Amino acid sequence: MTVESVRPEAPVTPESGLREAPLAGGGVPLLGHGLKLLRDPLAFMSQLRDHGDVVRLKLGPKEVYAPTTPDLTGALALNPDFVIAGPLWESLEALLGKEGVATANGPRHRRQRRTIQPAFRLDAIPGYGPIMEEEAHALTERWQPGETIDCTTESFRVAVRIAARCLLRGDFMDERAERLCVALATVFRGMYRRMVVPLGPLYNLPLPPNRKFNAALADLHLLVDEIIAERRASGQKPDDLLTALLEAKDDNGDPIGEQEIHDQVVAIVTPGSETVASTIMWLLQVLAEHPEHADRVRDEVESVTGGRPVAFDDVRSLRHTNNVVVEAMRLRPAVWILTRRAVTDTELGGYRIPAGADIVYSPYAVQRDPKSYKGSLDFDPDRWLPERVKEVPKYAMSPFSVGNRKCPSDHFSMAQLTLITAALATKYRFEQVAGSNDGTRVGITLRPHKLLLRPVLR
Ligand code: HEM
Repeated sequence: MTVESVRPEAPVTPESGLREAPLAGGGVPLLGHGLKLLRDPLAFMSQLRDHGDVVRLKLGPKEVYAPTTPDLTGALALNPDFVIAGPLWESLEALLGKEGVATANGPRHRRQRRTIQPAFRLDAIPGYGPIMEEEAHALTERWQPGETIDCTTESFRVAVRIAARCLLRGDFMDERAERLCVALATVFRGMYRRMVVPLGPLYNLPLPPNRKFNAALADLHLLVDEIIAERRASGQKPDDLLTALLEAKDDNGDPIGEQEIHDQVVAIVTPGSETVASTIMWLLQVLAEHPEHADRVRDEVESVTGGRPVAFDDVRSLRHTNNVVVEAMRLRPAVWILTRRAVTDTELGGYRIPAGADIVYSPYAVQRDPKSYKGSLDFDPDRWLPERVKEVPKYAMSPFSVGNRKCPSDHFSMAQLTLITAALATKYRFEQVAGSNDGTRVGITLRPHKLLLRPVLR
C-alpha cells in the first residue's frame, strides 16, 4: 500500500516564517484517509515518512498533522503546546470515563500523577517481586508439555493477575481476568473503529456488533465497580495504589468523587492489562520464531541462577533477556499510535500547526525507520548492547513515551516482562501449531491475531 501522491509543500508563510506541511494524497470524500488507516494502518503510517517530516492527513472532516521523525515525535511529547485531546482520547473518554489520569490535562493531571506515582517508583518495584515471581512460574506450571496453549488468554491472565495483585491487592480470580480479557478485546477493537471512521450516530444503532461492544463496555465498568466495592467492604487499607486512589484528595483537600475513583481504576487496569498482555503475546511469538535467542535467554538465566528457579532479583543481571524484550517492543510496540491536540498556534520542526489541530504519530513507524536502525526489520536484540546502542537516535525508541505523559509503569512493566520471558524460555521451547496465526492484528494496541503454541520441555 502506498501513500499515492503528496501535494508539494506550500510556500513559507512570510509573516510567520513557518512552512505548510504537505498533504498526503489518496484521501476519499467524507472519510479522507480514514479508510486507508482502517485497511492497512501500519503500512499507511510507516510510508508517511517518505513524504515529509510532518504530513497532513484528512480523517473524516478533520485535518490531522502527522510528524514522522524521532526528533519531532519526541519534541511533540515534550512540548506543552500539545495536550491529550483529539479523536483517540475523545473515544477513550466517552467510553472509559472522563476523570481518569490518562485523559486529564493541566492541574488535575498533575494531581492524579502525584497520587499514582508512588506505586510505580523504581524503589517500589522490588516490593512486587514475590508476586511477579509467583505469577511467572505459575504460568509455566499451568501448561502441560505438548498441549496447545492459547496465548491470548494466557497472556491476559498473567498480565491482569500481576497488575491486580500488585497494585490493587485484589484477590483477582481467573474468571475475572477472563472477563476483562474478553471485554477489553471487544472494547478496544470497537474504539479503534470509532476513532478512524467517526460515523457518530451509526454506532448507536442496535446492530449486533454495536450490541456486543456495549455489553463488553458495561462488563468492564461492572468489573471495576466490583473491585472497588470489595475493597470497601473488606474495611482494609493496605499500602497500595487502590488505597491511594480511595484516599486521594482534590486541590481543595476534599475527597475526590466516586466517579473519579471509578475512572482512575479504569484508567489503570485498562492500559495495564492490554499493553502488557499484548507484549507477552509478542514475546511468546519471538521465542517460537527465534529459537537461537530463546536458547541464549535460557543459557543466560542458567548462568545467573545456576539452575534454581529465576527470581526477581536476577532481573538486573539478565542483559540479553532484557534486550530480547526491548527488541520485541521495538518491532511490535503495544502502543503503536498516539494523538495530541495543539492548544495554541504553534510549530513543529518549522511547520505551522494551527490551534485546535489534531496530531497523530506512530511509535511503530518511528521504531522501524531504516534511517534510525540498520536492518530495521530484523529481530536483532544485540543492537541494544552498550557499544551499539549509541547508534540509535534520540527518541527513536520510546515505547513508553516521554515527557509528562510518559507511562508511569515503565519499570513495573519491564521487570515483569523480563522475568516472564526468562521463566518461559528456561522451561520450554515453543512451536506454533496448525491454526495459529501470528499476523499482526491492529487495534488500539498491536497483538498477534491468534497465537497458538505448543510448549516442549527443555
Ligand atoms: C501511558 C505504553 C504498561 C498505565 C502510557 C503511554 C504509553 C504507554 C506509550 C503514553 C501515552 C501518551 O503519550 O499519550 C505502555 C506500554 C506498556 C504499558 C508499552 C507495557 C508494555 C502499563 C501498565 C500500566 C500503565 C502496566 C498500569 C498498571 C499507564 C497510564 C498511562 C500510561 C495510567 C497514562 C499516563 C498519563 O497520561 O499521565 N503507557 N504502558 N501502562 N500508561 Fe502505560
